[in-house]
Amino acid sequence: MNKVALVTGASSGIGRELLDRFAADRIDIVITARDEAALGKAAEELTAKYGIAVTVIPADLSKPGEAHRLYGEIEKRGIAIEYLVNNAGFGNYGVFHESPAQKMDDMVQVNVATLVTLTRLFLPGMVARKSGRILQLASVAAFQPGPLMAVYYATKAFVLSFSEAVAEELTGTGVTMTCLCPGPVHTNFAARADFNHSRIFQKSHVATAPEVADYGYRALMDGTVLAVHGFNNKLLATIGRFIPRRLIVKVVRWMQEKRG
Ligand SMILES: NC(=O)c1ccc[n+]([C@@H]2O[C@H](COP(=O)([O-])OP(=O)(O)OC[C@H]3O[C@@H](n4cnc5c(N)ncnc54)[C@H](OP(=O)(O)O)[C@@H]3O)[C@@H](O)[C@H]2O)c1
Repeated sequence: MNKVALVTGASSGIGRELLDRFAADRIDIVITARDEAALGKAAEELTAKYGIAVTVIPADLSKPGEAHRLYGEIEKRGIAIEYLVNNAGFGNYGVFHESPAQKMDDMVQVNVATLVTLTRLFLPGMVARKSGRILQLASVAAFQPGPLMAVYYATKAFVLSFSEAVAEELTGTGVTMTCLCPGPVHTNFAARADFNHSRIFQKSHVATAPEVADYGYRALMDGTVLAVHGFNNKLLATIGRFIPRRLIVKVVRWMQEKRG
């Protein structure tokens, strides 16, 4: 029997790319996101190309309770999740006090609360089976505060701290947790966050989703705890530790500002 992966945010971008990596290794997949049409298309393509089983469970992960419903739906089908990928996430550009309050709450729910809940729900089964791997999507944003995207950066800092701590707790259990930190990536993310015209996206090297998916998938399968994608991003994550925080916030603000 094939092993099974659960991938959130599977309708586009990095999540959609990761599906092909699992499928190529003959791993069945449970996919979730809000866009049912995109999920259906992905399921059709994967089944036709790789002959694996794909289960589609649409969910709006900004709604408290959806993580529990998703878990229940998977349990009901008798599926044991061997690989959990908490990839769903989004950002929002603008000063915090003018940002839509509901959107800020939703971001914390999707990027942080749902990720914690799904991890808490699926991890005990993995530990009991002494087998399982979890991939948490953070970002290089996790390594410093991010003016003009304050909540987004803070959610990713949470994911990094949480993942490194739990990964340590899991030592010797047979289960691993990997925290993937990409820099800017060409996906729907920047347009959705109204962030395309920032210096970060205009001036830095922007990776492709397949590159990041390849790197993240390898890190997951190797059980690497911290996986920062790309040389520049590794450098950024490292030198940031030696620069005063009050200087870093100013540099990050400049990078975040829109050009022109
Ligand atoms: N692109 C970058 O520059 C970059 C850099 C570092 C880290 N990341 C992280 O990488 C992850 C994937 O993003 P991406 O770049 O691939 O962007 P993307 O193409 O916009 O994909 C985001 C995914 O998250 C899902 N999602 C968003 N809100 C959701 C909700 N309320 N309920 C359920 N699913 C939801 C989306 O599906 P639906 O809209 O169909 O619900 C979509 O499948 C995110 O966690 C992001 O923070 C991205």
